[in-house]
Amino acid sequence: MTTVFDCSLLTLPRIASETGALTPVYGGEHVAFDIERVYYLYDVPGGESRGGHAHLALQQLIVAASGSFEVIVDDGRTRRSIFLNRPYHGLYVPRMIWRELVNFSSGGICLVLASMPYTEDDYIRDYADFQEAKRTPA
Ligand code: TYD
Repeated sequence: MTTVFDCSLLTLPRIASETGALTPVYGGEHVAFDIERVYYLYDVPGGESRGGHAHLALQQLIVAASGSFEVIVDDGRTRRSIFLNRPYHGLYVPRMIWRELVNFSSGGICLVLASMPYTEDDYIRDYADFQEAKRTPA
């Protein structure tokens, strides 16, 4: 069963020049999974949090494409907080990790590279259910 210590902060390629910087990301190379979906969170009002759920199978790479925010990861026993503020850093989050995204800076953009298409069936949205699933892994 995954723990918060399976969440890792990856350094992505950064191609910088006088005219700016660019970060390419390939599934299976910079992240261990195939990238099936990309989505991004933006216009998050000050003080609001996102996430608040775990995924049965989904793996993700979470990037602060602009600004900053904090990702709190939780495996039912241990919580860790990871601050993201560089577009060339990505937080790998494996399956069955509860996550919350908090403290978005003004203009903060959270880019997510995901291993699967969206399906509500993959979500655990109740923390007690998550804890129970961690106690009794399938
Ligand atoms: P949710 O994953 O709960 O957002 P967050 O983790 O950022 O707080 O999704 C919010 C809503 O958006 C929910 O109704 C499902 C929908 N949604 C999609 O339709 N497609 C997607 O790829 C995602 C991530 C969410």
